[in-house]
Amino acid sequence: AETSQPDSTTVDSPSGAQCPVRLDEQFFQDPYATYTALREAGRIQRVSLPQGTHAWMVTHYADVRTALAETHLSNDVGAGREAFERNRDPDKPPVKWDPALSSHMLNSDPPAHTRLRKLVVKAFTARGITHMRPRTEGIAAALLDDLAQRAADGDGTVDLIGDFAFPLPITVICELLGVPDTDREAFRDWGSTILSASPPDVIAEARSNMGQYMASLVAAKRAEPAEDLVTSLIEASEDGDRLNDRELVSMVFLLLLAGHETTVNLIASGMLALMQAPDQLAKLAADPSLMPRAIEEFLRLESPVNVPTVRHTTAPIELAGVTIEAGDLVLAPLCAANRDPGKFPDPDQLDVTRDTAGHIAFGHGVHYCVGAPLARMEGEVALRALLTRFPDITLAVDPSDLRWAHSTTIRGLKSLPVRLS
Ligand code: HEM
Repeated sequence: AETSQPDSTTVDSPSGAQCPVRLDEQFFQDPYATYTALREAGRIQRVSLPQGTHAWMVTHYADVRTALAETHLSNDVGAGREAFERNRDPDKPPVKWDPALSSHMLNSDPPAHTRLRKLVVKAFTARGITHMRPRTEGIAAALLDDLAQRAADGDGTVDLIGDFAFPLPITVICELLGVPDTDREAFRDWGSTILSASPPDVIAEARSNMGQYMASLVAAKRAEPAEDLVTSLIEASEDGDRLNDRELVSMVFLLLLAGHETTVNLIASGMLALMQAPDQLAKLAADPSLMPRAIEEFLRLESPVNVPTVRHTTAPIELAGVTIEAGDLVLAPLCAANRDPGKFPDPDQLDVTRDTAGHIAFGHGVHYCVGAPLARMEGEVALRALLTRFPDITLAVDPSDLRWAHSTTIRGLKSLPVRLS
């Protein structure tokens, strides 16, 4: 495999086709056009990430799924530093590795991964989160009261993200973990910066702020234990010396970030899709029992995680018909897989009655999303409450004015202006 590619807008795919492959502003606005072009050109290509790193990318459903289950594709970002170095543009700064917040399950492979995941998996099972449903309904109702008030006080339009889709999941995850609600806005900024394509020094500063906050949170819970997940993680670590301080802080960081940066977009992108397809909105309104199925369709159509953790090969592998040597990087975009017409007919259409079995919005393999039951519950509660209270909700701007986050990891709108009635 090549170790680097020229800084151009097109490269040869192994199948010989010329494809646009830079993951840039145009890509953030509409990744699907790029994915369709790549998928039609061949099964695998080399692409460049905004930070100047080059990687292999697959876009067919079956290949994405295979990549996510491949045991020689590692998530261990620390051990993979050489691969990142080797695949970097020589004129770009080295990719910084900051272990302070990175020693978590999503960045580790079995057996370390297995040990870390075991500590929290029970808290997030469908049974483990049942007690959160009534609480989530209460949070949604209170937010909708505020939303109605804000619309009445202003010109009738509100930002569905800032005023509803964001505060809902962050309140839920903060309550589960035991994080006081005073610092949520700061969190939002740090979180979205960390997951964005911002310059390395900006990301480093956000990580540093987040790291200091996490460390002080853990210290506070140590001093004053409570009935929450951070306290039980501290107890688990003191019990059997199973989590060191860095792992503990990284775990809390991962749960907070994963718990709010994704679900916000399930709610917002789901609502956007409905407002753009009034027939589907009417179908759902007529038969609310369709909601769980609709949630799966929103996850498929506009998957909140676009490109999951960049994996590196620890040995040569066969993927999508080519041999990739050890020490290369591989991208397996979920947004591409979930719109592969070979798997989901008419993939760009919202169909709330669609059979979405096999969609991989929550990933696949050992890293399959721990929070999936919580995210599904939050999505259902949020959209049901919203549609019951404001059945005539409409988009308040032209769809072409909507802006999507500058991130290859997260697929989500920056804001969603709506008119409630
Ligand atoms: C992992 C998606 C909500 C916690 C993942 C992965 C995906 C994903 C795709 C795998 C990433 C990879 O393989 O690189 C989503 C989506 C969500 C959501 C689409 C919302 C709609 C949540 C929530 C939590 C959470 C609410 C709450 C704690 C995690 C954790 C992992 C993870 C801890 C790492 C699992 C591991 O490494 O074994 N998620 N997630 N997620 N998610 Fe979620």
